[in-house]
Amino acid sequence: ARKRVILSGIQPTGTPHLGNYLGALSNWVQLQRDSSPNDTLLYTIVGWHALTLPQDPKKLLQSRREMLATLLAIGLDPSRSIIFHQDHNPHHTELAWILSCLTPFGKLKRMTTWKSRLADSRNANNESEVNESLLNAGLFTYPVLQAADILVYRATHVPVGEDQTQHLELSRDIAQIFNQTYKRLFTLPEQLSTPSKRILSLKNPATKMSKSAPDVQSRILLTDSHTQIKAKIRSAVTDSITGVTYDPETRPGTSNLLTILGACTNREGREGSDVAADYRSKGHGELKADVAEAIEELLRGPRSEFGRLREERGYLDDVAKDGAEKARALSEITMLDVRRRIGL
Ligand code: ADP
Ligand code: NA
Repeated sequence: ARKRVILSGIQPTGTPHLGNYLGALSNWVQLQRDSSPNDTLLYTIVGWHALTLPQDPKKLLQSRREMLATLLAIGLDPSRSIIFHQDHNPHHTELAWILSCLTPFGKLKRMTTWKSRLADSRNANNESEVNESLLNAGLFTYPVLQAADILVYRATHVPVGEDQTQHLELSRDIAQIFNQTYKRLFTLPEQLSTPSKRILSLKNPATKMSKSAPDVQSRILLTDSHTQIKAKIRSAVTDSITGVTYDPETRPGTSNLLTILGACTNREGREGSDVAADYRSKGHGELKADVAEAIEELLRGPRSEFGRLREERGYLDDVAKDGAEKARALSEITMLDVRRRIGL
């Protein structure tokens, strides 16, 4: 089989929640389990991406360390996967600059993430007025840094959710522009589809579970105790319809609990609709109790590992240093080729 280079990243912006775990991080562990020894797995904590929004320096430093502890706690193995801080490898930013000089302005303007930032910054009274103090150049160009994150390792496969499809498409476009402008170098990275479960907010099931929602009751953190998990699930918004059925349109809260239960109790992820059959003659109370226990089962191991690892500063620093060295050794090969082709 062809050698795969798999790369994925996560921002160090606060404690990950159940949505991050079920939607992204658990897939990373699964990929590590399913991969062949020929595959190269790279998992990066993308501190430079976090800077597109204001960050408290002390908190960022702590979040970076805690994200590394989290990745180890959920089962990523530094002897199998290259786990590293993006900001420990300057090749990412070097390549990002080179690629930004090849990226058409118009392509970046069409990124839906940028368009939604732009929309957020429009003056409520005058739609044509943009409050430019809410926008920075990094928010506009970070998809190019993402392309560099991928291409600098000549990644062949990128496991990302559907919300990232457009950015991966841009990475492919940029790779192609480089190949046409200079001598061909990059293979085009493919999206690796992984079972993606979209987990909704426990308080407002019209929106996804998110780190940035102000109400911390709306999300289960990977660090939550059994007691906290039970309290949050007990107070999760459902509906006043008797019984339990799976109907995401009219019963988003109840359906979200079924989705969570299915994802927690089966590694392949049972569908919420299948789980509903077990609750035909039961109520919300029983469903919630089972959901809380299933989450506890899933998170107990990672939580205690995280608690142990977060204190092991020396070990975490060693893992980060070792990961960065391995990553840099790979990206240096690409950068030698890149510089040579460009005339640098
Ligand atoms: P957040 O929106 O909470 O800040 P991020 O944007 O940092 O999360 O996303 C990190 C990863 O977790 C991404 O791959 C994203 O697709 C996934 N993810 C985030 N929220 C959810 C969710 N509610 N359900 C499923 N996956 C999610
Ligand atoms: Na986000």
